[in-house]
Amino acid sequence: MTDYLIAPSILSADFARLGDDVKKVLDDGADVVHFDVMDNHYVPNLTIGPMVCKALRDFGITAPIDVHLMVEPVDTMIVDFAQAGASIITFHPDASKHVDRSLQLIKDHGCKAGLVLNPASSLEELTHVMDKLDVILLMSVNPGFGGQSFIPHTLEKLRQVRKLIDASGRDIRLQVDGGVKVDNIKEIAEAGADMFVAGSAIFNQPDYKAVIDEMRIELAK
Ligand code: DX5
Ligand code: ZN
Repeated sequence: MTDYLIAPSILSADFARLGDDVKKVLDDGADVVHFDVMDNHYVPNLTIGPMVCKALRDFGITAPIDVHLMVEPVDTMIVDFAQAGASIITFHPDASKHVDRSLQLIKDHGCKAGLVLNPASSLEELTHVMDKLDVILLMSVNPGFGGQSFIPHTLEKLRQVRKLIDASGRDIRLQVDGGVKVDNIKEIAEAGADMFVAGSAIFNQPDYKAVIDEMRIELAK
């Protein structure tokens, strides 16, 4: 049985009381904190940086923090987030001039490393770096905002990446990000994903535990 990870995106959390909100979603059954970093350059939105990651650690958050970098360039932020307590760092290959070097930088700083592919990005980006990847994140919306709808062609892309991962024989997480809800999570899992980012589906409901429980019930079907 696959061990599925649910990673709430704190982009949709209450930033005025972020520590409490993150603690609550973890107490309510989430596995990983998905931390969206946007720079108003790679994507047209601006969010939070390494100081906030460190603040969550200082607040007592011990769960894995999965930093999704939507910034360009990436290398300085990789070092800063590793020092701020990140567990996983992923970035978009078109935001780094030297993708292999940036992946190695993440690993050299003791974090798990991953690449993020946008809806229109080619799977060829993965070809020469499979041996450095711990995570592959497929965007199922165009990056920059929460609350968008899942782009259906992501399902076919997930199937293709699942085959690549299985053929590699490596232990690589297949993560999906954007528009994941209770009513589509099962279909997304069947296409090959095993790590689910969900922002608005969880944080826009008062009862996080109810949503996470429903997601797990769907995944167990
Ligand atoms: C979008 C972010 C996502 C976003 C997902 O660029 O990477 O993590 O928060 O939000 P939902 O789950 O609402 O689509
Ligand atoms: Zn994200």
